[in-house]
Amino acid sequence: MIETIDGFEIKKNEQSSRIVNIDITEGILNKLIFPFNKFDITALEYKPFTRFTLAKNLDDLTQNKLSKLINSILKDRAKGCFILKTNIQNKKIDKNFLVKLSTAITHLIGVPNHDSMSGKYYARFFIKHEDDSDSYLRKAYINMDLHTDGTYVNENTDWVLMTKIEEKNAKGGETALLHLDDLENLKELSDSPVSRQNFIWSSPKSKNVDYKVEHPVFTKDKNGNINISYIDQFPEPQNIEQGIFLQKLSDALEESDNKIITDLPTGSSVVINNHFWLHGRRPFKINENLSRELLRVRGSFNS
Ligand SMILES: [Fe+2]
Repeated sequence: MIETIDGFEIKKNEQSSRIVNIDITEGILNKLIFPFNKFDITALEYKPFTRFTLAKNLDDLTQNKLSKLINSILKDRAKGCFILKTNIQNKKIDKNFLVKLSTAITHLIGVPNHDSMSGKYYARFFIKHEDDSDSYLRKAYINMDLHTDGTYVNENTDWVLMTKIEEKNAKGGETALLHLDDLENLKELSDSPVSRQNFIWSSPKSKNVDYKVEHPVFTKDKNGNINISYIDQFPEPQNIEQGIFLQKLSDALEESDNKIITDLPTGSSVVINNHFWLHGRRPFKINENLSRELLRVRGSFNS
């Protein structure tokens, strides 16, 4: 499936044959500077069509091969994940450039959902030494358990992009990834009748979502593959059976030997199919000056 695209280095990830590494060379980065300068971040936020212009600028540089490649990776059940790397040493690559590049990539895949936490089509946030928020997202020293995104919203969340914008004094905090088919006892868990029951999902205040949704943990797609929609913090189990099932699932995920622990370089993006890839984060080593800035975009596929 892996083809060649001029200006990109495309190879199998060293840790997993399910992940494709896509490295953007200097040549392409330099060619993006001019078209990307046409819009500032405010324009991208206020005028949604400009986001598609950036996407087209990027795809045109690849004879439209990039959009085909990334869509085929994300929709391939055996893969479903790619890591896009830029060279952060390139002085022209600043934070705004990374926002624009992430915008271009996501608009080659589909349409972002409104991110209620930020009120925009994307969210940027810091993880620091101190935190008084109400979810695990910004708790630097606690493991963020494997989960999928969008479990408590009404919209379809087909994919997630996470870009590491900047990092200072960070040790640990590696990204954890698990492909659902690599979960050792997936069959046992997904065969359990409770896994197909509707669970109630809510979210804490900071997420700015004021409704609850109901859906099962496991569903089957049209090809009979099992999909998962799960996060540890937000389901509201209604009885012991549901509680025990969630505990069992949580233990299975965290104890899986097939988790991929990877250090994402600054300036890189990881993009996953959110129906069968789970993601999380290892705790950071304590440092008062710790700072990591992330960008996330979540959305649905182009229909
Ligand atoms: Fe997440």
